[in-house]
Amino acid sequence: MLQVDKIPSYQPVLTQNPYQPHMARIVRIYKMVEDNYLFTLRFLDDRLAAGFRHQPGQFLMLSVPGAGEAPISISSSPSRPGVLELCVRRMGRVTNALYRMQTNDVVGIRGPYGNGFPIQDIIGHDLLFVAGGLGMAPLRSLVWYALDNRDKFNRVTLMFGSKSPADMLFREELVSLVDRTDMTCLLTVDRDPTGSWKNHVGLLPKLFDSAQIDPARTYAAVCGPPVVYRFVLQRLLDLGFPKDRILMSLERRMKCGVGKCGHCNVGYKYTCINGPIFTYWDAINLPEMI
Ligand SMILES: Cc1cc2nc3c(=O)[nH]c(=O)nc-3n(C[C@H](O)[C@H](O)[C@H](O)COP(=O)(O)OP(=O)(O)OC[C@H]3O[C@@H](n4cnc5c(N)ncnc54)[C@H](O)[C@@H]3O)c2cc1C
Ligand code: FES
Repeated sequence: MLQVDKIPSYQPVLTQNPYQPHMARIVRIYKMVEDNYLFTLRFLDDRLAAGFRHQPGQFLMLSVPGAGEAPISISSSPSRPGVLELCVRRMGRVTNALYRMQTNDVVGIRGPYGNGFPIQDIIGHDLLFVAGGLGMAPLRSLVWYALDNRDKFNRVTLMFGSKSPADMLFREELVSLVDRTDMTCLLTVDRDPTGSWKNHVGLLPKLFDSAQIDPARTYAAVCGPPVVYRFVLQRLLDLGFPKDRILMSLERRMKCGVGKCGHCNVGYKYTCINGPIFTYWDAINLPEMI
């Protein structure tokens, strides 16, 4: 198996006041779908912008002045440093305030937090990504990490499902992956009112019929709404995936992000430090996790 060094992670906040955010400028706001925007941020401090690293699957605490903080996954890959991309769905107080902001406005960031995907373990294996809707936000960082380090992974397969083509997050980017010859990208929509969608139509688990998967060599990374877990996890188990090779990114209400407040605990685990990436094995030992 190939070895790589752990991605160096620059975490100045953990050595000082862990609640002190660093200021970052919004350099781009891209409307992917109504109420689902991609925000590109750059730290005001150039040294921090250049030195900040994260593990795919980690998250940030994003603060909007006057509104508060919310945990948001880092959607960009550490293989593309300099800026951070966050895919944010408009939900409540913090995200509504963020949606009122403009390019060049400044937000606060602390982190990166959480365990991230176990890069050391998955290097040298096949990768299977299965995502639905906003589940693409945490997985996208690992997708691009794998594609930017293509020689370190074997077969890469991505399955993504959305309600309709108009609802598909990262649509242009994902459609362009369908043409790549070094990976398999399977996209599906529940329905296609336009009749012009050139990919699959049907529910996400149907994509398994079109993929070549060798469970003995593969790590699966799954994220999406509960319905995705319900059907996809069973399918992976039926295929014979070992329980510790099924990785899931899970969300819990969070406040501190650093294991102090207890808001995010599931059983004896804190989602903010023991997660948000858990194996299926973790999940069956802590049934309230999913
Ligand atoms: C590790 C992690 C990563 C996340 N990554 C992203 C991301 O990449 N993009 C994104 O858009 N969102 C992400 N979220 C979810 C986001 O943090 C919440 O939607 C957050 O509540 C938004 O803050 P708000 O102030 O706008 O909404 P709030 O005013 O806090 O809440 C809006 C509504 O969502 C409910 N809610 C709040 N938190 C949760 C939760 N964890 N689970 C279920 N319901 C909840 C509230 O009860 C309320 O009904 C992530 C959450 C976690 C824990
Ligand atoms: S969010 Fe405070 S302990 Fe996890």
